[in-house]
Amino acid sequence: MESLKNKIDIKRLPQHIAVIMDGNGRWAKEQGKMRIFGHQNGVGAVRAISEACAELGVKYLTLYAFSTENWNRSQIEVDALMRLLSKTMSDELKTLTDNNIRLNAIGDLSRLPKYNYDALMKTIDATKYNDRMTLTLCLSYSGRWEITQAAKMIAEKVKSGELDIEQIDENVFSNCLNTSGMPDPELLIRTSGEERLSNFLLWQLAYSEFYFTEKFWPDFGKEDLYLAIADYQNRERRFGKTSEQLTENK
Ligand code: IPE
Ligand code: IPE
Ligand code: MG
Repeated sequence: MESLKNKIDIKRLPQHIAVIMDGNGRWAKEQGKMRIFGHQNGVGAVRAISEACAELGVKYLTLYAFSTENWNRSQIEVDALMRLLSKTMSDELKTLTDNNIRLNAIGDLSRLPKYNYDALMKTIDATKYNDRMTLTLCLSYSGRWEITQAAKMIAEKVKSGELDIEQIDENVFSNCLNTSGMPDPELLIRTSGEERLSNFLLWQLAYSEFYFTEKFWPDFGKEDLYLAIADYQNRERRFGKTSEQLTENK
């Protein structure tokens, strides 16, 4: 079968793709396995999608790996996810290096167990000069947490006299978010049939195109990614204007 990659217009690629990797638990359950088996198999999809994005020329890939709310799962599942994360950090260093991908992490990383935080920092440091694509893992992350952090940071700056209230605008606010310096994602993908944001990138997704697929994350492969990008490329992004204004280029 011909690859859907040929349907993608490389000149109109999204610069930044964000993904809510969902459905690992249900994928495992379907096979009568433990939830962690699903998470383990999700790592393969992370590798495939990271490689595919880097090969295409996508500059930023941001993956929702563990939310603030996910701390409320059973201790067994949380521990297994933390262990899987540090194992993945060392196992995947070669994939990151071979593909010239820089690793980045955002979220309340102070809540991660120390062994896990250290493994993460080691891989981030080892890949810091890679410049083909930035892969951001969102860990212990939630959009409301991030926005609250930004509000606190701005309040501190005002208090110390570094910033006037009148100077606070969208740009100043964006620069206080964890994603400072990154363009907003043009495309958001969520797997597993759920159609909600679950507290992901609330500020940054203000004008993103949403793509939902029934596939569970461990089954999401390169061709599924190409399909999502091709679908995105068929949409008209109007940003409040009318279709006529866009075609007249006004
Ligand atoms: C997504 O899969 C991975 C994480 C949230 C860590 P889930 O674990 O949410 O899988 P489902 O949604 O229960 O199937
Ligand atoms: C969102 O998935 C978080 C991640 C993918 C890491 P969840 O499975 O935790 O979301 P809800 O609870 O179904 O909304
Ligand atoms: Mg889920």
